[in-house]
Amino acid sequence: MRRFVADKAKTLINRSRTTCSSSSPITTSTSVLQRLTSSSSQSPAVLRFLSTSSDSMASDYSSTPVTLNNVNPKVLKCEYAVRGEIVNLAQKLQQDLKENPGSHPFDEILYCNIGNPQSLAQQPITFFREVLALCDHPLILDKSETQGLFSADSIERAFQILDQIPGRATGAYSHSQGIKGLRDTIASGIEARDGFPADPNDIFLTDGASPAVHMMMQLLIGSENDGILCPIPQYPLYSASIALHGGTLVPYYLDEETGWGLEVSELENQLKTAKSKGINVRALAVINPGNPTGQVLAEANQREIVEFCKKEGLVLLADEVYQENVYVPEKQFHSFKKVARSMGFGEKDISLVSFQSVSKGFYGECGKRGGYMEVTGFSPEIREQIYKVASVNLCSNISGQILASLVMSPPKICKTI
Ligand SMILES: Cc1ncc(COP(=O)(O)O)c(C=O)c1O
Repeated sequence: MRRFVADKAKTLINRSRTTCSSSSPITTSTSVLQRLTSSSSQSPAVLRFLSTSSDSMASDYSSTPVTLNNVNPKVLKCEYAVRGEIVNLAQKLQQDLKENPGSHPFDEILYCNIGNPQSLAQQPITFFREVLALCDHPLILDKSETQGLFSADSIERAFQILDQIPGRATGAYSHSQGIKGLRDTIASGIEARDGFPADPNDIFLTDGASPAVHMMMQLLIGSENDGILCPIPQYPLYSASIALHGGTLVPYYLDEETGWGLEVSELENQLKTAKSKGINVRALAVINPGNPTGQVLAEANQREIVEFCKKEGLVLLADEVYQENVYVPEKQFHSFKKVARSMGFGEKDISLVSFQSVSKGFYGECGKRGGYMEVTGFSPEIREQIYKVASVNLCSNISGQILASLVMSPPKICKTI
């Protein structure tokens, strides 16, 4: 995938070099962007799309009731750079290329602002898609042609899954935490991964990890006095959701010198500083494996982090969506739950939420919006509150739920022939 992106980028840069060789100083895609955004060298076409002036928009909408002065200030404060100005500009450029081919020194835009492998031509995993197709259209399960078109594995799995869905209806709302049979499968997958028990009642199926993170922020943040310790650099879901829910981001800095290491001394210092400002720090968010940094925490380091959360009474929010994306043989992913349990901390000793997603790993099913959070170490009363928040959304989408179960229980290589 990386080579594919690098090759595509090189082709684009070379093409822009060739097109602009004598008349233009453009040598990199960055300078293409700079040129497009600088006022001195904008082509009429660029000026046209950059001139969707906020002034004219403001006058058009001057009598509408919601204005920048009265809109929720938390929304104004929220920033989400990966979908921000550069992406807006790219979309406008794309539209411009469509309407006026050849109007720019490139003919394609490659979106690398967010991990979205299928938009860069990665093909979906056949098994996943076959199971989804069969579950969504169960009538074809009984047709003889289906045996020739679909693998025996996917037909068998589709039958199993449909048996778990009340009324076999993928178009019906499910239990707010997700279909029980699928949660059973996910819990078994977690047990197989960690070697410790997992309870299907701890699983909340969600439309990706993002809504799950929002749900936890909603639970933990009551006012700006509530703080969440977040890594810097971070994936901006954290800063954005903290801002949206009106809390305070308490930064802790990963150390580039040590391969983006997470020092507990840094956590302690930042916690102390936040407390001195009157902030009530509620939780520690850890992204492991990291994004954008790619680091994989050593088990010993994870133990220190668990110890720190236990000592300071913090909820550990473990973003583990990249658990399959470890590319060096000497590193291994360990879930925080496994680490906590292996230290002897049980359900009542530490509050821990693990986020998983169908968007990452080798599957990259970002657009299907599936994922789950495993919620452990909360009292029954708080669990009820989390359930209530989940219920407000009725349920997550059923295709995403099915995919989450497949990701945690992919087909196994059969040893006996
Ligand atoms: C660290 C991290 N967490 C969460 C997400 C969001 O995942 P989802 O697509 O499941 O909402 C991303 C997406 O890139 C991510 O990088």
